[in-house]
Amino acid sequence: MSKAVILGTGSCLPKRIVTNAELEQMVETSDEWITSRTGIRSRHIAGRGEQNYQLAAKAGRRALAVTGIDPQELDLIIVATISPHMIMPSTACFVQAELGAENGFAYDINAACAGFTYGLDMANNYIRNRPEMKILLIGAETLSTRVNWQDRNTCVLFGDGAGAVVLTGTSDESGIIGSCLHSDGTLWQLLCMDSPESHNPDLRPDDWVGPHIRMNGSEIFKHAVRMMEDAVNTLLRKHGLGIADVNLMIPHQANTRILKNLRERLGLPEEKVFINLSKYGNTSAASIPIALDEAHRQGRLNRGDLILLCTFGGGLTWGSLLLRW
Ligand code: ACO
Repeated sequence: MSKAVILGTGSCLPKRIVTNAELEQMVETSDEWITSRTGIRSRHIAGRGEQNYQLAAKAGRRALAVTGIDPQELDLIIVATISPHMIMPSTACFVQAELGAENGFAYDINAACAGFTYGLDMANNYIRNRPEMKILLIGAETLSTRVNWQDRNTCVLFGDGAGAVVLTGTSDESGIIGSCLHSDGTLWQLLCMDSPESHNPDLRPDDWVGPHIRMNGSEIFKHAVRMMEDAVNTLLRKHGLGIADVNLMIPHQANTRILKNLRERLGLPEEKVFINLSKYGNTSAASIPIALDEAHRQGRLNRGDLILLCTFGGGLTWGSLLLRW
């Protein structure tokens, strides 16, 4: 049966780099606190000409360049984001216009940090039915527009950027093997972001504080480790594989302590986990495709390798996905 295979990857990070030392000037924090609790040393923050869709389109163009596929050949553009340029139209429609990909259709998905992994699963399902489809899947965020820069609990954690992959169908060994996706809407309050203020006073939540990210950090920490571990083990079992079969795990880049705990519980050696969050912080839906592109360009992905993605985010949403490179 046909399945989706990644033909090319690309990414785009804003030019401006904000270090922990710069954040020390904005909120009561320290480089020592941020580095020891999160592993983050700097993040890229978007400026003029670096709107979400512009970063997304650049990442997409770079992924397309690897494949030699023309934007006009694209059947579908999906953008996973929780910081869209506008609520309507979708960021994907802006990307379509930027790329001149007028022959396809385009829409956004919101599954928070799990958005890119959910998107891969969606692309795989389209391609199973129509293997000739060419899909551009992008994870793109400008979380700097949604962070409360007075809240030290959250503003030190996030960054901006975009990563993209181009997918089509294959019937050979490579491609997406399977996924294990979950969500639990009853736990939404652990990590959330309000909408812009409602124009209907009757529908304004009593505890509305503005469209900022809010988080219960310690609860998120515990759930993230347990749920990702479970999603990985369930998926490996389903496909008759063990953790030793995995060549490289590319996890959602949230926090080095979460990833260390997860790695130890799974029994994966350090060199089999790709981590780049010290440079970029948590870029939500963009974190896995940025890491995937970096791993690819560093020569860490070899033909036939078993690659494991795992992710966790607001919703709650979480999951894992296996692919053969
Ligand atoms: N600088 C200095 N102090 C801070 C900062 C900061 N930036 N942020 C919080 N603090 C303070 C708090 O105010 C609190 O002070 P208090 O004890 O006087 O009230 C104290 O530090 C909290 O300390 P701890 O609870 O021990 O902090 P903890 O070790 O839990 O680390 C952290 C907090 C980093 C948020 C941790 O809970 C965590 O990593 N959680 C996961 C959150 C995450 O990664 N979210 C990303 C989104 S979800 C995802 O992508 C998976």
